[in-house]
Amino acid sequence: MTDPAAPRAAKAQTDQPRAAKAQTDQPRVLIFDTTLRDGEQSPGATMTHTEKMEIATLLDEMGVDIIEAGFPIASEGDFAAVSEIAKLSQTATICGLARANFKDIDRCWDAVRHAKSPRIHTFIGTSPLHRAIPNLDMDQMADRIHETVTHARNLCDNVQWSPMDATRTEHDYLCRTVEIAIKAGATTINIPDTVGYTAPRESSNLIRMLLERVPGADTIIFATHCHNDLGMATANALAAVEAGARQIECTINGLGERAGNTALEEVVMAMKVRNDILPYRTRIDTTKIMNLSRKVSSVSGFAVQFNKAIVGKNAFAHESGIHQDGMLKNAETFEIMRPQDIGLADTSLVMGKHSGRAALRAKLRDLGYEMADNQLNDVFVRFKALADRKKEVFDDDLIALVQDQGTQEAHDTLQVKRLRVVCGTDGPQEAELTLTIDGVDYSIDATGDGPVDAAFKAVKMLYPHHAALQLYQVSAVTEGTDAQATVSVRIEEDGRIATGSSADTDTIVASVKAYVNALNRLIQRRQKSAPDSDVKSIYYKDSSHSGVK
Ligand code: KIV
Ligand code: ZN
Repeated sequence: MTDPAAPRAAKAQTDQPRAAKAQTDQPRVLIFDTTLRDGEQSPGATMTHTEKMEIATLLDEMGVDIIEAGFPIASEGDFAAVSEIAKLSQTATICGLARANFKDIDRCWDAVRHAKSPRIHTFIGTSPLHRAIPNLDMDQMADRIHETVTHARNLCDNVQWSPMDATRTEHDYLCRTVEIAIKAGATTINIPDTVGYTAPRESSNLIRMLLERVPGADTIIFATHCHNDLGMATANALAAVEAGARQIECTINGLGERAGNTALEEVVMAMKVRNDILPYRTRIDTTKIMNLSRKVSSVSGFAVQFNKAIVGKNAFAHESGIHQDGMLKNAETFEIMRPQDIGLADTSLVMGKHSGRAALRAKLRDLGYEMADNQLNDVFVRFKALADRKKEVFDDDLIALVQDQGTQEAHDTLQVKRLRVVCGTDGPQEAELTLTIDGVDYSIDATGDGPVDAAFKAVKMLYPHHAALQLYQVSAVTEGTDAQATVSVRIEEDGRIATGSSADTDTIVASVKAYVNALNRLIQRRQKSAPDSDVKSIYYKDSSHSGVK
């Protein structure tokens, strides 16, 4: 299977009539999701193997055209994840990243070759700053591009090449390298704005220039890959499409290093809602967006800001009286898209403690969660416990329950068994904690400056470690004093970052569980993978693979 959007001579689309053409006549824009590669590179966003499989399955089902599943040479874990995703994908092309050397490319091919539709994505930094790192002059780099793309193309029919930091590369040199990559057999040329430096007009001019100046440009697909450092990633990606790019590289929730990448949900919904002025079609089933957003947020530990476009908690909330009045009369007064379009069910009172398993299954299905029997049993037990403690159980409560699943796994080294805290105006506050560590129970009392501090100290006394707490964040799942609290924690030890989360009606319990969840992930990472700093610096270790062979 090959990419369905055929290469074509692209023309800037201007002055479109307000009424959009029939969707099927419109140019197709391929959606390339890199949540599992560029998104996962975000410090602390590391995902487990199982989580990567779950996300890849959801992306495939949502209609993503290409999934960039990882960086196979970066670690054994990345290699295993890319290979398995390649085997399980049904319709998406599976892509792996490789630097410009034969070893990376071979390793990448070994991982993606199992896919029905594999792709190798190889890149090299072409801007003056990036050329200086492997210490290659322009001619040497041009040779390297020719050799590596040719090598990749000998292995795989579907090869993507990226001049990293393209937006800060001299135009003549950019055209020269793109031409070399096309002649060597690249089928997609990606134009990365690696440091989020460009602006919409420049982004479209760059694609237009490449289409006009580079021989063979009409035979390949141009992709746009934007970072959000100046908050323009979505605008820049769409501007590139208007100039003729036919692949957008993006991540769910805009997850990615620094300020993140172009957000998939934003570009897809922009082309859907403003199809009159952005007349392009995608294959994305937008009703699956919300579920994926929640999933990526919970596994990465990166909470979605409340006012984030499309998927933020407030994106469809209308609090002010004038808005509510308008909404009741006609939803279109303040809503440009319907919550259902992104798979957002109404937040309504759902069930009480007498609700049965079948009702729970049906409700979860409405919310986008398909559950195997054993998963459902687990959620059901916790739902009953919650319904006993909480008067009303809302959709958001159920979502928090489902997302909390997996934050305490049977195989985890550390388990929270019992917690009691004493708090109030007269300190010091106290925590009595029992942790099960490798199957054995240990208890301790600790005091601290507040109940969370006391409880975290107790964890550290029972499981000594030197990971520093980088982030501790609490948010209420619903309204009311009996609302569940969701707590996110991020810790760092020797360059390894791990995040944890948990939800409970007791904020201190949720806090300790989130902290222990982060520690369990850190323990797994100590066993399995390199520190984050190693994974990131892999870009810059290129010269150690001197020569391409
Ligand atoms: O931002 C970037 O330049 C990248 C490349 C590896 C494509 O992610
Ligand atoms: Zn990137």
